[in-house]
Amino acid sequence: MLKRSEGDLDLAASVDIFLEEKLLRDDPVLEGTLLKSDAAGLEPIAVSPLLGALLQILVKSTQAKRILEIGTLGGYSTIWMARALPEDGELITIEVDPPTVGIAEQNITSAGLSDRVRVIEGRAADVLARLVDYDTPPFDFIFVDADKMSSLQYLKLCLKLSRAGTLMVFDNVVRGGRVLEVECDDPGVIGVQQFLDHFAELEGVSVSALQTVGAKGYDGLALVVVD
Ligand code: SAH
Ligand code: DHB
Ligand code: MG
Repeated sequence: MLKRSEGDLDLAASVDIFLEEKLLRDDPVLEGTLLKSDAAGLEPIAVSPLLGALLQILVKSTQAKRILEIGTLGGYSTIWMARALPEDGELITIEVDPPTVGIAEQNITSAGLSDRVRVIEGRAADVLARLVDYDTPPFDFIFVDADKMSSLQYLKLCLKLSRAGTLMVFDNVVRGGRVLEVECDDPGVIGVQQFLDHFAELEGVSVSALQTVGAKGYDGLALVVVD
């Protein structure tokens, strides 16, 4: 087992809050989204505010007009990304749990983004396969943040929905360091390991990963761009 220092994580969480206070403005819509998600009993696993802001920067800097998200939850990351879309842009987000879809739709409407965001209810693998079958135009930016055991399947399907230059961000690829465990029985960790292993044989993409610490603990992102 990896040795983790709780003290270090506490410090990282405090710095996260410090940076949030320095860099981000009060945002009643985003705060309301988290409050309503919490009141509805959703898990507190949305991206952190600074990570939401990072996603927004990536959307802006890629000038994305078409965004795909896998794993909506209450729509918190959705709202961060969709706000960076131009008026004629579109974000499609996929969520398997019907009551959760309802909460997300309310939050997206409260954010004034329902003209740009479509929540599709269903298992992501099925919905993605349908999008491929329907020859959906490629997405410019893709955020993958659903069940981690399907990460490799999502990578393969997302590549079919991409073009040269598409940027994909995969959340939660470090899992508190558990990604190092050799004989792991957590399907989520195994899924991330299979996803990471695939890059040894995958041509035509550039990939990196970034470890993250902060208010949400120790985790990480993988970034993939299609060459
Ligand atoms: N992106 C959100 C957090 C997503 S949490 C945010 O940062 O605000 C992961 C979500 O993925 C949960 O809502 C869960 O219901 C959903 N999910 C899990 N398995 C799924 C699947 N197979 N297909 C689609 N959504 C799934
Ligand atoms: C979990 C899922 C997430 O997407 C996340 O960011 C943190 C935790 C989870 O399933 O535990
Ligand atoms: Mg996540």
